[in-house]
Amino acid sequence: MKRVMVATWDFGSKAVERGLSVLESGGSALDAVEEGIKVVEDDLEVLTVGLGGLPNFKGEVELDASIMDGETLRCGAVGALKHIRHPISVARKVMELTPHILLVGEGALEFALKCGFKQEFFWKPNAREKWLEMLEKIKREALGECSFYGKILKVMRDSWRETVSVIALDANGSMAAGNSTTGLFMKMPGRVGDSAIIGAGIYVDNRVGGAVTTGVGEIAINYCLSKRVCDLMSIGLNPQKACEKAILETLDRENFANGIAVLALNNKSEVGAATSLKEFTYAYQDEEMDRPELRKIKGILT
Ligand code: GLY
Repeated sequence: MKRVMVATWDFGSKAVERGLSVLESGGSALDAVEEGIKVVEDDLEVLTVGLGGLPNFKGEVELDASIMDGETLRCGAVGALKHIRHPISVARKVMELTPHILLVGEGALEFALKCGFKQEFFWKPNAREKWLEMLEKIKREALGECSFYGKILKVMRDSWRETVSVIALDANGSMAAGNSTTGLFMKMPGRVGDSAIIGAGIYVDNRVGGAVTTGVGEIAINYCLSKRVCDLMSIGLNPQKACEKAILETLDRENFANGIAVLALNNKSEVGAATSLKEFTYAYQDEEMDRPELRKIKGILT
């Protein structure tokens, strides 16, 4: 089987490059996903992933992440986790060390500390400034009569995206998927998005393939988007057709104004992607390539 890594957005190229080198040195698909995501969590220029990135409206960074093993369907996730540099690694520990799938908030932090992760307190450059600017903008703009959170929704329109979501296929045909995000900028405290919800932001099954999302998590949760794409692939659609059909289904109802993107890789190394955002970029690399390729797609309605 040809080893393949795919990841959302242009910064995903760092994840696929690192992941592929892990696969090539004999690591598992799970190792490739975890190690690839850690590079993006550490990247000081990526404010939408990792500790110190863009916060909720109270100025607190609450992180979501999950990981799934396509061979066993075992999975682990954390939601609204504070002060931990690598939420993806905590998600993997939830999968490996607990009988549960999702830990959130204080419980997730307590578990991480028991596992030996350290509590850290820092901002990535510009993250706090962006939060202060956004608070000012919300106060300043004439947004009509609505709640504070209603005003946030109006101001934030179009700027919701950028989870790092990764799928790996190793030489034995084994697959894994994972993701990590600060979640929606200015979200309500305690809000957990699709990245922590198995079947919404992430799903993978060796028998079929995997799918991951980025964008407004509520859409992915509402439509169980990653599982939907895997189900469509399991009845014979290729990844591209499965992604397009699933995105069109989300557009059939108008529960949410903003967009979502889905990226899929099947167990035959075929890839597909579709989005209701204006455009979406993903990174692709297989073992025959020296470096990742960035692929840009237009929104399904543009
Ligand atoms: N897709 C990331 C989020 O909604 O939190």
